[in-house]
Amino acid sequence: MSNYNIKHFEEYFQIYRKSVRDPELFWEEIAEEHFIWRKRWDKVLSWDFNKPEIKWFEGSKLNITENCIDRHLRTKGDKTAILFEPNDPNSPAEHITYKKLHERVCRMSNVLKEQGVSKGDRVCIYLPMIPELAVATLACARIGAIHSVVFAGFSSTALATRINDSDCKIVITSDGSYRGGKTIDLKGIVDEALTHCNGVSTTLVVNRIGSDVEMKEGRDKWLQPLLDSASLQFEPEIMDAEDPLFILYTSGSTGKPKGMVHSTAGYMVYAAYTFKNIFNYKEQDVYWCTADIGWITGHSYIVYGPLANGATTVMFEGVPSYPDFGRFWQIVEKHKVTQLYTAPTAIRALAKENIEFVENYDLSSLRVLGTVGEPINEEAWHWYNDNVGKKKSPIVDTWWQTETGGIMISPIPFCTPTKPTYATLPFPGIQPALMDENGEEIKGNQVDGRLCIKYPWPSIARTIWGDHQRYKDTYFSAFKNMYFTGDGALRDEVGYYRITGRVDDVIIVSGHNLGTAPIEDAINEHPAVAESAIVGFPHDIKGNALYGYVILKESGESRDHDNLRKEINQIITEHIGPIAKLDKIQFVNGLPKTRSGKIMRRILRKIAGKDTANLGDTSTLLNPEVVQEIMDNVL
Ligand code: WTA
Repeated sequence: MSNYNIKHFEEYFQIYRKSVRDPELFWEEIAEEHFIWRKRWDKVLSWDFNKPEIKWFEGSKLNITENCIDRHLRTKGDKTAILFEPNDPNSPAEHITYKKLHERVCRMSNVLKEQGVSKGDRVCIYLPMIPELAVATLACARIGAIHSVVFAGFSSTALATRINDSDCKIVITSDGSYRGGKTIDLKGIVDEALTHCNGVSTTLVVNRIGSDVEMKEGRDKWLQPLLDSASLQFEPEIMDAEDPLFILYTSGSTGKPKGMVHSTAGYMVYAAYTFKNIFNYKEQDVYWCTADIGWITGHSYIVYGPLANGATTVMFEGVPSYPDFGRFWQIVEKHKVTQLYTAPTAIRALAKENIEFVENYDLSSLRVLGTVGEPINEEAWHWYNDNVGKKKSPIVDTWWQTETGGIMISPIPFCTPTKPTYATLPFPGIQPALMDENGEEIKGNQVDGRLCIKYPWPSIARTIWGDHQRYKDTYFSAFKNMYFTGDGALRDEVGYYRITGRVDDVIIVSGHNLGTAPIEDAINEHPAVAESAIVGFPHDIKGNALYGYVILKESGESRDHDNLRKEINQIITEHIGPIAKLDKIQFVNGLPKTRSGKIMRRILRKIAGKDTANLGDTSTLLNPEVVQEIMDNVL
């Protein structure tokens, strides 16, 4: 029996049991058989969740791009590695073969080297979903630099914070980007960000939209001429297993974003193994994940997981609504996509449109459907299953996080019977636990609690860049000897897991994690604002939307509230990005607080969600009278 290819449900259980009985042997067998190592490991795993310190395949040497590109050259050199579908449906798609990808990554590696980037340096990549984004990411990995990809929808302030936090010396960007019928001035955003970043010596600029941008003498360089004169060969830097591969920022409930650090060997093994099984990957497949490479889903399941398996991975530059709401389905038909991996928020948005957008296209190539990023509601699950999968393509509802590096709980298609809204069972090697508020594990089935993981897996993030203490406090302090996910979950009568949502102050809006504190900090910068509190409330398409309660310094009818709302959202857009804008803003005279001065968000959440039948005990509040007033004026 090969552990690498799980074929039926009984086999899943056997493999799962083995992975728990002897995790080291289990992962060693997988690592040994499916990757190229320049030197074998001395030790499979050493770990201590108290320090916390986790090391996988210690002593081994490798380069992940050799595994993702070079080793496929002989057998699959002419196979498409990246299939690029541009924003404009009338522009031709680009098929980048493994040979071509090798060439492009080598050229980019040489350019980065010439620009003074060396092993261990941090490179910020702020690009739209164009091939250069994948190429730059891989080139960093090839030269041993640590990439920090920042989603190109983030504002200049958010970009500057990320550049400074990890001390990036170079930024790779483009003149602009296409987004449906609009263009966005990316270079302008970078210029603005760099007025706050002293450490950046160079920006490399891709010409994507042909706009007339300002190039700062000595700092800004067009990328293409440098690539044109670069060599086609670049020997990969040989890395240690635990050398950082990348930093990716994720929002915390408080403070600045956390730069999650992923290491090389364990991440590679886990991304590859999960991709193979959770997407039932076969050699002829055309796999499409609609995420952006700026998020972890794109890192693991557009770039590293698929390429490590020699797959064809689609990169789509555009949006689901352009030129119309049939775009996803048109792409599936055009490229005969076999696996589609997307987010509940996209499914809900498309489900609202005329069903003809779906029915106009031939979706018969689809074999597996995936969803990620937030709980999928029952209605959206059925719509996806009935109209896209035609009830024959299993849906893999994949639960995982930026911190976990790869999918943790998910059905395995054609093995695990699916159940709407359930992520079902842990992947081999993953040992979940539900915990109660006293720190005790809740055993048995039909229970719910806080979701933790008891044992390390290869792709767990190793630290937060520059702040190991915060890593420990956030993930390893709530429950002894456990990794705490921040999510709540329930386990049904057969042991299937359903993720119920965050139990901290992170709110997931359209699949994006947003911390309440940074948004509140932004709002509080408005000169008229005294204090604010943000909560999530249920939204048909976004899953959650943001509701802000704002206390003004001077209240009174004279203020133009609509204008203030616009200004507040403008400040949020500047500090974080448009994804963090508030749907509703209620001006209040006070916020419900505990006697120690903590805002009672639980009450505010219920009011925003119009679920006030059971507000719980408000008598312990410092100011119970404000609750009625807020309820009377709820939007
Ligand atoms: C949520 C995305 C329910 C969860 C890969 C988690 C989900 C957070 C699911 C991580 C799912 C992700 N069902 N909830 N299938 N997948 N989540 O870091 O709250 O962007 O903690 O990683 O998204 O979001 P992140």
